[in-house]
Amino acid sequence: MKDLAGKVAVITGAGSGIGRGMARAFAGAGMHVVVADVELDAAEAVARELNGTAVRVDVTKPGDVRALADQVYREHGAVHLLCNNAGVALGGPLSDMTHDDWRWVVSVNIEGVANCLTAFLPRMKAQDGEAHIVNTGSIAGLVTIPEGGIYAATKYAVVAISETLRAELAPHNIGVTVLCPGSVRTNILGAARNRPDDLKDTTVEAPAEFSDPVGMMDPDQVGLEVRDAVIANALYSIPLTEGNKVLIPMVQARFDAIMKAMP
Ligand SMILES: NC(=O)c1ccc[n+]([C@@H]2O[C@H](COP(=O)([O-])OP(=O)(O)OC[C@H]3O[C@@H](n4cnc5c(N)ncnc54)[C@H](O)[C@@H]3O)[C@@H](O)[C@H]2O)c1
Repeated sequence: MKDLAGKVAVITGAGSGIGRGMARAFAGAGMHVVVADVELDAAEAVARELNGTAVRVDVTKPGDVRALADQVYREHGAVHLLCNNAGVALGGPLSDMTHDDWRWVVSVNIEGVANCLTAFLPRMKAQDGEAHIVNTGSIAGLVTIPEGGIYAATKYAVVAISETLRAELAPHNIGVTVLCPGSVRTNILGAARNRPDDLKDTTVEAPAEFSDPVGMMDPDQVGLEVRDAVIANALYSIPLTEGNKVLIPMVQARFDAIMKAMP
C-alpha cells in the first residue's frame, strides 16, 4: 500500500513497545491510528500523543474484537491497515510449562490474531481500494531459540497464518507482512501484568530486566521499518540488532537441514 496519508490503521497492543512504535510511524505518515490495547490508560496516552482513537480491547475475547471492528467501521467506514501485534511471552523448558502457561500464551498470540482476522477481514475484503495486514511474529518464529518453546510455537503459527493469508488476499488487493524482529527494548518482560487471574498457575518467573538493554532495538525504529515494508508490500520484515545477526546462520542451518531431509 503506497499511499498512507488520510487512511485508517488499527493496531493492537499499541499502548506500548513495538505497537506504539508502529502507531507513531503510521501517524507520522498521515494515517489516523486506532490504538487498541487491553491497558486503556496506555492506549489513551498514545492516542493523545498521535491525535488518534484509544479503544480498550482484549484480543482473546471475540466480543471485544467484534466491537472494535464495529466501532471503527461506524466511525471511519474502512480499515486500510490492520496490525495484529498484541502479544505476550514466557520463557523456560517446555517440560516445566503448565496448562495455564500454554492457554495464556496461545490465547493472546494465536487466538488474538485469529479473532482480529475473523472480525475485520470480511469487511476489509468488501471495501474498495488497497489494504494491508501486518502480523507481529518474531525471529523466534523462524528459528528455534532455547527455552522459548511455547512462544516459538505461537510465533511459527503467526508466520504460517501470514504466509497463507498473503496468497489468499492478493486477489483482493490486500497485502500481508509478517514482522519478525530480534530483540527490541519494550515492556514484554512484564507481559504477565496482563495475565488473567484464571490462567495464573505457573512456575515461571520472568527476569526483571533485559540482559543487554543497550544493544536492543528501539521500538520506534522497528515502527519505521514496518512502515517501509507496508509501502513495499514485503512479506517479511526482519529488523535485527548487530547482536541478533548470530541468528542468521542458524536460520540458514535450519533450512539446510530441512532440504537435506527431503527425498
Ligand atoms: N520485544 C521484543 O524483543 C520482541 C521481539 C519479537 C517480537 N515481539 C512481539 O512484539 C509484539 C509486541 O510486544 P512488545 O515487545 O512491544 O511488548 P509490550 O509488552 O511492550 O507491548 C505489548 C502490548 O500488548 C498489550 N496486550 C497484552 N495482552 C493483550 C491482550 N490480551 N489484548 C490486547 N492487548 C494486549 C499490552 O498491554 C502491551 O501494551 C508481541 O507480539 C511480541 O511477541 C517482541
